[in-house]
Amino acid sequence: MFTKLLPFSLFLIFLLITLCRSDEDWWKHAVFYQVYPRSFKDSNNDGNGDLSGVIEKLSHLKDAGVNGVWLSPIMKSPQVDAGYDISDYYAIDDLYGNMDDLKKLIEKAHEMGLKIILDFVPNHTSNEHQWFKESENKSDEYKDYYVWKDAKDDGSPPNNWISVFRGSAWKWSDKRKQFYLHHFAEQQPDLNYRNPKVREDMKKVLLYYLDLGADGFRVDAFPFVFEDEQFRDEPRTFKSSAGENDYGYLNHIYTNNLPETYDLLSEWRHLLDEYSKNHEGGARILMTEACADLEQVIRYYGNEDGSKLGAHFSFNFLFISDIHKNISTAHDIVRIIYSWQNALPSIFTSNWVLGNHDNRRIPTRLGVENIDSFNMLVQLLPGIAVTYNGEEFGQEDGEVTYEQGNDPSSRNRSIFESTSRDFERTPIHWDDTTNGGFNDGAKPWLPVSSKYKEVNLASQLDESKLSHYQIYKKLTQKRKEDPARIGSTDAWAISDDVVVLKRSIESKHIVLVFKLGWHGKMEEESVYIPSIKAKEATVALTSVNSAYKIGSIINPQQFKLQPHESLILDISS
Ligand code: NOJ
Repeated sequence: MFTKLLPFSLFLIFLLITLCRSDEDWWKHAVFYQVYPRSFKDSNNDGNGDLSGVIEKLSHLKDAGVNGVWLSPIMKSPQVDAGYDISDYYAIDDLYGNMDDLKKLIEKAHEMGLKIILDFVPNHTSNEHQWFKESENKSDEYKDYYVWKDAKDDGSPPNNWISVFRGSAWKWSDKRKQFYLHHFAEQQPDLNYRNPKVREDMKKVLLYYLDLGADGFRVDAFPFVFEDEQFRDEPRTFKSSAGENDYGYLNHIYTNNLPETYDLLSEWRHLLDEYSKNHEGGARILMTEACADLEQVIRYYGNEDGSKLGAHFSFNFLFISDIHKNISTAHDIVRIIYSWQNALPSIFTSNWVLGNHDNRRIPTRLGVENIDSFNMLVQLLPGIAVTYNGEEFGQEDGEVTYEQGNDPSSRNRSIFESTSRDFERTPIHWDDTTNGGFNDGAKPWLPVSSKYKEVNLASQLDESKLSHYQIYKKLTQKRKEDPARIGSTDAWAISDDVVVLKRSIESKHIVLVFKLGWHGKMEEESVYIPSIKAKEATVALTSVNSAYKIGSIINPQQFKLQPHESLILDISS
């Protein structure tokens, strides 16, 4: 009897191990979708998106094929920096609802198989946080919660450090008769991570949201958490583009990516790993935001031998910072892909990002005509794909005047157009009704772009018509096929204008080929897929502007591509 049952039991054990592991590894090939809550869906028509609005739209996220939803900050905040100035880590801002709404959102998302990632802002709080008020009053418990420093003898700030939002990073407190450090707006004082009590308090915040059901955290502005203990002046960069008030004026060797930062991250990783081990629901994950050199960004993943782990992934912003419309060539794009791939130790998971709430949207930055090509690229590269809300159907930046703008980094007319982040934050275009379906007509916190009538999700829901959204949906499915999921990766520039990406497993290949339309003659180009001997390829997907039919057969040795056209080919060799 026992021997008869043995193979079956072994099979069950194998199945169980496989299931547990896949749950553990759910994030490794996930599509993360960033919801910018204030602009997503306004369910109570007060002009601001809210958590009930996100709940209403979960079915869209499921339909789109995403796996994880990252919510930009929703905790209590005076909204000086769009919620990145938290005044209470344990409360939801009234704009968005309340803690019960968040619980409901997490529960519903989990029922639908979606993970919820929260934005965790550890570097600074709002100056309205109770900790800061007490610190300013020098209360025993909180006096060292922030980075306070005396003025120099002449009354000037303690050193030359500059805020990311321009000007001195120090603000004088008349109450405490000292300066406090703020790497961002003056209403965002930096916490003092050299104080163990601060570290303990932030761990409590993480645990609170883990207990509430969060599947992980996007860690905001992480490189800034520690600064030099001697408060030394930072050296100049001598960049001609940076004036003396600009962040780029100094080389931030004493305020960014200090060694202690990596230790703190590994403490948090340990906390999440232990939590995941002791609770059902798979790995709880950390994704770090570090705008830094490639080497430093990758260091946030941990040691390459796995002896010390940091984030599950550290955002790869290379496609945002290094691809420039009409300037970058196909060679540049391929170089960027390999620079990341080669720098990332093989034990870690890649990730690819085209947009977020801090950068112009893809169609605005890289051209409306190239939306499908770049969505295809990000979805077919190995590892994690990140989508900023609206990218799935090609939403462009909105139009915002200086008077309507909100972004604290750009409250200065001369820099508004070039630096404001208001443009990429305007409300989502759900349909062509009032305010693009964002709400029922109340004045939105930022204006809805006039483009909502032409570009909106509802107009792209018809599955029989190829649209940016239908392409996106097919991509989130296509990436699940073995070559795209676990296959090898090769990329070529076959001219200045044409990129080829090949994902292969044994004799099966998924190949993306696209023509930027930025270089060479603006006419069709004869192209081929390198390293492929097969004479036939099936067109699996095309960009909206392509004349190729999905399902048709072409010769991968030679075919034509129009500017801005992209094709995904299935090839067996
Ligand atoms: C990075 C966030 O993405 C950005 O929006 C914010 O202004 C800064 N961190 C400060 O928290």
